[in-house]
Amino acid sequence: MKTVRILFFGDIVGAPGRAVFQKHVKALKEKHKIDAIIVNGENSSKGRGITPRIVKFFRHNYVDVVTTGNHIWRYREITEYLQMHDDLLRPENYPAQCPGSGVTTFNCNGVTIGVVNVQGRTFMRDHLSDPFKTMDTVLSFLRTKTKVIFVDFHAEATSEKIGLGFYLDGRVSAVVGTHTHVQTTDERILPQGTAFMTDAGMAGALHSMLGMKKEPIIENFLTQMPVKFVVEDQGPMILCGVWVEIDVETGKSLHIERIKIVDHDIRVDGSEE
Ligand SMILES: [Fe+2]
Ligand SMILES: [Fe+2]
Repeated sequence: MKTVRILFFGDIVGAPGRAVFQKHVKALKEKHKIDAIIVNGENSSKGRGITPRIVKFFRHNYVDVVTTGNHIWRYREITEYLQMHDDLLRPENYPAQCPGSGVTTFNCNGVTIGVVNVQGRTFMRDHLSDPFKTMDTVLSFLRTKTKVIFVDFHAEATSEKIGLGFYLDGRVSAVVGTHTHVQTTDERILPQGTAFMTDAGMAGALHSMLGMKKEPIIENFLTQMPVKFVVEDQGPMILCGVWVEIDVETGKSLHIERIKIVDHDIRVDGSEE
């Protein structure tokens, strides 16, 4: 039986997230015999957004596709990149006139791997199309190309994420959530063979709030006044993700395994991008 192993990292936050990712990605790839790597990069530049330079950084560090979410539009330069390249996704259910796409395929040792990025609507500000119906539309053409399909569902509510997991069970290989930056421990294979996990978690400072310094955010809770969010660059750092093994013939997952590394030796030099 031929299988592929896909490693996925949740929201990578700023320079600390990039540093802990870069330090461990090669060893994880070798240890788990990983064939393809996907990361969510929506927070990878200064905690919000992503630049073309950082997409290239990921690509130089074994990443095949970068997914994103609600922070994708932070830097104007990314719109041109989205138009010109298919290794960076924005959620598919944004209005059709937005640049870029939420769907791509790539070749991995002769196997076509499909990647889809969609965003939730519950407790989120953006007025997007229904992610469930969006997935139906996507699968109507993507399933003619491959059965090996990985979905990053960028959403806030656990119910919406679990709901989409069951809705897609047996039609995609994996549904993994992002956006909350808090790793869940509910990874499992659903009854029809789809690997599922509510949230992959983040890469960045352990003693932070979603990768950002905690003090301004607590201040905001206390005063309700606007504050500046700043990336926490003091260690220890965490790197969270998950890997899945997929049967290439059926597209069903055989195995799902959570990754969480705590690293006490990362120093970030302050040259924040
Ligand atoms: Fe995020
Ligand atoms: Fe997000």
